[in-house]
Amino acid sequence: MEMKIGRNDACWCGSGKKYKKCHCDFDEILQEHKILGEIVPSRELIKNKIQIQGIKDSGVINTAVLDYVAENIKLGCTTEDINKWVHEKTVELGAIPAPLNYRGFPKSVCTSINEVVCHGIPSADIVLKDGDIVNVDISTIYKGYFSDASRMFCIGNVSDEKRKLVDVAKETVQRGLAAVKPWGHLGDVAQAIKDLAHENGYTVVREIGGHGIGLEFHEDPWVSYTTDKGTDMLLAPGLCFTIEPMINMGTHRIVTDSKDGWTVRTADGKPSAQWEIQIVVTDNGCDVISH
Ligand code: MF3
Ligand code: CO
Repeated sequence: MEMKIGRNDACWCGSGKKYKKCHCDFDEILQEHKILGEIVPSRELIKNKIQIQGIKDSGVINTAVLDYVAENIKLGCTTEDINKWVHEKTVELGAIPAPLNYRGFPKSVCTSINEVVCHGIPSADIVLKDGDIVNVDISTIYKGYFSDASRMFCIGNVSDEKRKLVDVAKETVQRGLAAVKPWGHLGDVAQAIKDLAHENGYTVVREIGGHGIGLEFHEDPWVSYTTDKGTDMLLAPGLCFTIEPMINMGTHRIVTDSKDGWTVRTADGKPSAQWEIQIVVTDNGCDVISH
């Protein structure tokens, strides 16, 4: 139940502005979609201007840490080296690596090589070899605001087959981004992503997806990349989430390592690639928060 707000009352978003000058029109449009039976975001998922600025500041740091990894990653380094760079650079910039101790995750970054789909744990025993493709997934907390993005890196001489997987996975995120429209649907993003993956003979992981983010690491909505255009949550301005499809060369099926409880691999051992960006829906499109 949401209380009826007077037009001259303070807006529910916490902006301090009068409702009529803030989310009044927003609520009218949302209501039109709601009565059609659509899934609409709850108010706590809608960020106000101050929160969006805080999340953007966090995202600038997150992107800078990714850039730092990009400058240093090379053949022969270990994934523990990457962990050390991420941890030290994040702290140097006044922030906290979000993965460290998150639900017991032991390191400051996820590093996922070849058939590892996501959540690979850095280790001094894991050396980047010629021909590897590796995802480095970085998440930052700055002044209480969360950001999250990841990139793929090709190590040495990567086969054409794997390089194409990496390139198509990157392009799926761009297509998904282009599908983000205020008052559109999350399924529009998913449809654009799965169409491109399938056109290239690839599959999309079903059980793991993107997520709302900003005031917490993982908020609603859970973001699938296998749903259909016109379905799933309404993309209301102020909604902040990640686009991070995992694209597999073979089967979409995945297996989680029973020993470490984190590392997710493809069921057939074939390679997987993932790029992740974080965005916020705006009145006329969206802004990229970290990439
Ligand atoms: N960064 C991942 C994501 O994109 C989450 C990693 S959770 C961790 O959502 F604990 F493994 F870090
Ligand atoms: Co994420």
